[in-house]
Amino acid sequence: MTALEVLQQRFPNAKPKIAVILGSGWGDFAKAIENPQTVSYKDLPGFPLPSVQGHASDLIYGTFGDKEVVILTGRKHTYETGDADGMKLPIRTLKAWGCEVLVQTNAAGSLRPFMQPGSLMMINDHINLPQRSPLIGETGSERFVSMVNAYDADLRSKAMAMAKAQGLPVYEGVYAWYVGPQFETPAEIRMAAIVGADAVGMSTVPETIIARHSQMKVLAISLMTNMGAGLSEENISHAHTLSQAQAASENATKLLTQVIQNMTL
Ligand code: HPA
Repeated sequence: MTALEVLQQRFPNAKPKIAVILGSGWGDFAKAIENPQTVSYKDLPGFPLPSVQGHASDLIYGTFGDKEVVILTGRKHTYETGDADGMKLPIRTLKAWGCEVLVQTNAAGSLRPFMQPGSLMMINDHINLPQRSPLIGETGSERFVSMVNAYDADLRSKAMAMAKAQGLPVYEGVYAWYVGPQFETPAEIRMAAIVGADAVGMSTVPETIIARHSQMKVLAISLMTNMGAGLSEENISHAHTLSQAQAASENATKLLTQVIQNMTL
Protein backbone atom coordinates (compact mmCIF):
# COMPACT_ATOMS: atom_id res chain seq x y z
CA MET A 1 0.00 0.00 0.00
CA THR A 2 1.12 3.56 -0.63
CA ALA A 3 1.03 6.22 2.08
CA LEU A 4 -1.89 7.82 0.24
CA GLU A 5 -3.83 4.56 0.31
CA VAL A 6 -3.14 4.15 4.03
CA LEU A 7 -4.53 7.65 4.68
CA GLN A 8 -7.56 7.18 2.44
CA GLN A 9 -8.37 3.88 4.10
CA ARG A 10 -7.91 5.23 7.63
CA PHE A 11 -9.85 8.47 6.97
CA PRO A 12 -12.34 7.63 4.20
CA ASN A 13 -14.32 10.87 4.54
CA ALA A 14 -11.41 13.24 5.05
CA LYS A 15 -10.85 16.16 2.66
CA PRO A 16 -8.07 18.24 4.23
CA LYS A 17 -7.00 21.21 2.11
CA ILE A 18 -4.40 22.54 4.53
CA ALA A 19 -1.18 20.77 5.50
CA VAL A 20 1.15 22.02 8.20
CA ILE A 21 4.77 21.02 8.75
CA LEU A 22 5.99 21.81 12.25
CA GLY A 23 9.56 22.84 12.99
CA SER A 24 11.59 22.73 16.18
CA GLY A 25 9.69 24.09 19.12
CA TRP A 26 6.30 24.28 17.39
CA GLY A 27 4.99 21.07 18.99
CA ASP A 28 2.42 22.91 21.11
CA PHE A 29 0.56 23.79 17.97
CA ALA A 30 -0.21 20.12 17.40
CA LYS A 31 -1.82 20.01 20.85
CA ALA A 32 -4.29 22.73 19.81
CA ILE A 33 -5.88 20.66 17.02
CA GLU A 34 -9.42 19.41 17.61
CA ASN A 35 -10.47 15.79 17.11
CA PRO A 36 -6.89 14.64 16.55
CA GLN A 37 -6.19 11.28 14.99
CA THR A 38 -2.60 10.21 14.75
CA VAL A 39 -0.74 8.01 12.29
CA SER A 40 2.92 7.31 12.92
CA TYR A 41 5.24 7.95 9.96
CA LYS A 42 6.36 4.36 10.33
CA ASP A 43 2.92 3.27 9.13
CA LEU A 44 3.15 5.55 6.08
CA PRO A 45 5.40 3.93 3.47
CA GLY A 46 8.11 6.34 2.33
CA PHE A 47 7.63 8.82 5.16
CA PRO A 48 10.93 9.62 6.88
CA LEU A 49 11.82 8.82 10.44
CA PRO A 50 13.47 12.02 11.74
CA SER A 51 16.41 11.41 14.02
CA VAL A 52 16.64 14.72 15.84
CA GLN A 53 15.72 15.15 19.49
CA GLY A 54 12.71 17.43 19.77
CA HIS A 55 11.49 16.51 16.30
CA ALA A 56 8.47 14.24 16.26
CA SER A 57 7.34 11.88 13.52
CA ASP A 58 3.56 11.65 13.50
CA LEU A 59 0.93 12.72 11.03
CA ILE A 60 -2.07 14.17 12.86
CA TYR A 61 -5.39 14.66 11.12
CA GLY A 62 -7.98 16.87 12.81
CA THR A 63 -9.83 20.16 12.66
CA PHE A 64 -9.42 23.83 13.57
CA GLY A 65 -12.97 25.18 13.58
CA ASP A 66 -14.45 24.22 10.21
CA LYS A 67 -11.07 23.53 8.61
CA GLU A 68 -9.78 19.99 8.17
CA VAL A 69 -6.04 20.04 8.67
CA VAL A 70 -3.23 17.54 8.47
CA ILE A 71 -0.14 18.21 10.56
CA LEU A 72 3.26 16.66 9.98
CA THR A 73 4.92 16.97 13.36
CA GLY A 74 8.45 16.52 12.02
CA ARG A 75 10.44 16.87 8.83
CA LYS A 76 13.51 15.21 7.41
CA HIS A 77 16.34 17.72 7.15
CA THR A 78 18.98 17.78 4.45
CA TYR A 79 21.66 17.66 7.16
CA GLU A 80 20.47 14.20 8.24
CA THR A 81 21.40 12.41 5.01
CA GLY A 82 22.79 14.98 2.59
CA ASP A 83 19.69 14.61 0.42
CA ALA A 84 17.47 17.65 -0.11
CA ASP A 85 14.45 15.58 -1.17
CA GLY A 86 13.59 13.85 2.12
CA MET A 87 10.13 15.48 2.26
CA LYS A 88 9.25 14.93 -1.38
CA LEU A 89 7.08 11.87 -0.86
CA PRO A 90 5.19 13.23 2.17
CA ILE A 91 4.41 16.56 0.48
CA ARG A 92 3.32 14.92 -2.77
CA THR A 93 1.18 12.49 -0.79
CA LEU A 94 -0.58 15.38 0.95
CA LYS A 95 -1.12 17.13 -2.38
CA ALA A 96 -2.56 13.92 -3.85
CA TRP A 97 -4.82 13.67 -0.78
CA GLY A 98 -6.23 17.11 -1.66
CA CYS A 99 -4.08 19.63 0.24
CA GLU A 100 -3.75 22.92 -1.61
CA VAL A 101 -1.85 24.90 1.01
CA LEU A 102 1.37 24.01 2.80
CA VAL A 103 1.95 25.94 6.00
CA GLN A 104 5.50 25.62 7.27
CA THR A 105 6.94 26.57 10.61
CA ASN A 106 10.54 26.59 11.72
CA ALA A 107 13.04 27.88 14.24
CA ALA A 108 15.53 30.40 12.90
CA GLY A 109 18.37 32.69 13.86
CA SER A 110 17.67 36.40 13.51
CA LEU A 111 19.98 38.66 11.51
CA ARG A 112 18.23 41.89 12.50
CA PRO A 113 18.78 43.53 15.89
CA PHE A 114 15.16 44.68 16.09
CA MET A 115 13.96 41.09 15.62
CA GLN A 116 14.83 39.69 19.03
CA PRO A 117 14.55 36.04 20.12
CA GLY A 118 10.89 35.16 20.59
CA SER A 119 9.83 37.21 17.54
CA LEU A 120 7.85 35.71 14.70
CA MET A 121 8.66 36.37 11.03
CA MET A 122 6.50 35.58 8.01
CA ILE A 123 8.84 34.48 5.25
CA ASN A 124 8.25 36.60 2.15
CA ASP A 125 11.10 35.14 0.09
CA HIS A 126 14.09 32.86 0.51
CA ILE A 127 17.71 32.57 -0.52
CA ASN A 128 18.82 29.05 -1.34
CA LEU A 129 22.44 29.69 -0.34
CA PRO A 130 23.76 26.15 -0.95
CA GLN A 131 21.86 26.04 -4.27
CA ARG A 132 20.66 22.53 -3.49
CA SER A 133 17.42 21.33 -5.03
CA PRO A 134 14.99 18.54 -4.16
CA LEU A 135 14.03 18.50 -7.85
CA ILE A 136 17.34 17.16 -9.19
CA GLY A 137 16.50 14.23 -11.43
CA GLU A 138 12.96 15.37 -12.19
CA THR A 139 12.05 15.31 -15.83
CA GLY A 140 9.58 17.37 -17.84
CA SER A 141 9.29 21.10 -18.16
CA GLU A 142 7.41 21.39 -14.85
CA ARG A 143 10.76 21.06 -13.11
CA PHE A 144 11.61 24.62 -14.19
CA VAL A 145 9.30 25.92 -11.51
CA SER A 146 8.96 29.67 -10.95
CA MET A 147 10.02 30.79 -7.51
CA VAL A 148 8.35 34.19 -7.83
CA ASN A 149 5.64 34.49 -5.17
CA ALA A 150 6.87 31.18 -3.71
CA TYR A 151 5.49 32.41 -0.39
CA ASP A 152 1.95 33.31 -1.33
CA ALA A 153 1.46 37.09 -1.01
CA ASP A 154 -2.26 36.80 -0.44
CA LEU A 155 -2.02 34.21 2.36
CA ARG A 156 0.78 36.23 3.90
CA SER A 157 -0.98 39.58 3.92
CA LYS A 158 -4.06 38.00 5.51
CA ALA A 159 -1.88 36.36 8.14
CA MET A 160 -0.10 39.66 8.83
CA ALA A 161 -3.43 41.43 9.24
CA MET A 162 -4.54 38.78 11.70
CA ALA A 163 -1.37 39.12 13.72
CA LYS A 164 -1.85 42.87 13.85
CA ALA A 165 -5.46 42.50 14.96
CA GLN A 166 -4.28 40.27 17.81
CA GLY A 167 -1.57 42.71 18.79
CA LEU A 168 1.13 40.14 18.08
CA PRO A 169 4.42 41.54 16.85
CA VAL A 170 5.19 39.74 13.61
CA TYR A 171 7.80 40.75 11.05
CA GLU A 172 8.13 39.90 7.37
CA GLY A 173 11.45 38.95 5.86
CA VAL A 174 13.78 36.82 3.80
CA TYR A 175 14.93 33.41 5.05
CA ALA A 176 18.34 32.11 4.03
CA TRP A 177 18.94 28.37 4.07
CA TYR A 178 22.19 26.89 5.34
CA VAL A 179 22.32 23.07 5.25
CA GLY A 180 23.87 22.68 8.72
CA PRO A 181 23.92 20.78 11.01
CA GLN A 182 26.69 23.01 12.33
CA PHE A 183 25.53 26.50 13.18
CA GLU A 184 26.93 29.31 11.05
CA THR A 185 30.18 31.14 11.59
CA PRO A 186 29.89 34.84 12.41
CA ALA A 187 31.26 35.56 8.90
CA GLU A 188 28.54 33.43 7.33
CA ILE A 189 25.95 35.30 9.36
CA ARG A 190 27.34 38.67 8.22
CA MET A 191 27.31 37.44 4.62
CA ALA A 192 23.67 36.33 4.82
CA ALA A 193 22.67 39.75 6.17
CA ILE A 194 24.63 41.55 3.43
CA VAL A 195 23.00 39.57 0.64
CA GLY A 196 19.56 40.45 1.95
CA ALA A 197 18.48 37.78 4.41
CA ASP A 198 16.71 38.62 7.65
CA ALA A 199 16.90 35.15 9.23
CA VAL A 200 18.78 31.90 8.76
CA GLY A 201 17.80 28.30 9.28
CA MET A 202 18.34 24.71 8.22
CA SER A 203 14.99 23.76 6.70
CA THR A 204 11.91 24.97 4.81
CA VAL A 205 13.53 25.91 1.48
CA PRO A 206 13.55 22.37 0.00
CA GLU A 207 9.94 21.84 1.13
CA THR A 208 8.84 25.12 -0.45
CA ILE A 209 10.42 24.08 -3.74
CA ILE A 210 8.69 20.68 -3.61
CA ALA A 211 5.35 22.29 -2.78
CA ARG A 212 5.61 24.88 -5.58
CA HIS A 213 6.49 22.13 -8.03
CA SER A 214 3.27 20.43 -6.85
CA GLN A 215 1.38 23.71 -7.32
CA MET A 216 0.63 24.12 -3.64
CA LYS A 217 0.55 27.56 -2.05
CA VAL A 218 3.04 28.12 0.76
CA LEU A 219 2.83 30.14 3.94
CA ALA A 220 5.87 29.96 6.23
CA ILE A 221 6.49 31.36 9.69
CA SER A 222 9.84 31.47 11.47
CA LEU A 223 10.22 31.69 15.19
CA MET A 224 13.45 33.50 16.13
CA THR A 225 15.11 31.41 18.80
CA ASN A 226 18.41 33.30 18.85
CA MET A 227 20.41 36.03 17.20
CA GLY A 228 22.69 34.74 14.44
CA ALA A 229 26.19 33.68 15.49
CA GLY A 230 28.34 36.63 16.51
CA LEU A 231 25.42 39.06 16.82
CA SER A 232 24.95 38.56 20.55
CA GLU A 233 26.72 37.17 23.60
CA GLU A 234 24.39 34.20 24.00
CA ASN A 235 25.51 30.68 23.21
CA ILE A 236 23.76 28.95 20.35
CA SER A 237 22.81 25.31 20.83
CA HIS A 238 20.01 22.95 19.96
CA ALA A 239 18.87 22.93 23.60
CA HIS A 240 18.78 26.73 23.57
CA THR A 241 16.74 26.68 20.35
CA LEU A 242 14.18 24.35 21.91
CA SER A 243 13.89 26.26 25.19
CA GLN A 244 13.50 29.64 23.45
CA ALA A 245 10.90 28.18 21.14
CA GLN A 246 9.01 26.79 24.10
CA ALA A 247 8.93 30.23 25.70
CA ALA A 248 7.44 31.79 22.57
CA SER A 249 5.16 28.95 21.62
CA GLU A 250 2.01 30.41 23.13
CA ASN A 251 1.96 33.38 20.74
CA ALA A 252 3.04 31.21 17.86
CA THR A 253 0.25 28.69 18.44
CA LYS A 254 -2.33 31.43 18.88
CA LEU A 255 -1.39 33.10 15.64
CA LEU A 256 -1.22 29.95 13.54
CA THR A 257 -4.55 28.69 14.88
CA GLN A 258 -6.24 31.96 13.91
CA VAL A 259 -4.58 32.07 10.53
CA ILE A 260 -5.74 28.56 9.65
CA GLN A 261 -9.27 29.03 10.93
CA ASN A 262 -9.65 32.14 8.80
CA MET A 263 -8.01 30.88 5.64
CA THR A 264 -10.19 31.18 2.57
CA LEU A 265 -9.49 28.35 0.19
N1 HPA B 1 21.08 29.08 12.50
C1 HPA B 1 20.53 28.08 11.80
N2 HPA B 1 19.43 27.46 12.16
C2 HPA B 1 18.83 27.85 13.29
C3 HPA B 1 19.34 28.89 14.07
C4 HPA B 1 20.53 29.55 13.66
O1 HPA B 1 21.05 30.47 14.30
N3 HPA B 1 18.52 29.03 15.14
C5 HPA B 1 17.52 28.11 14.99
N4 HPA B 1 17.71 27.40 13.88
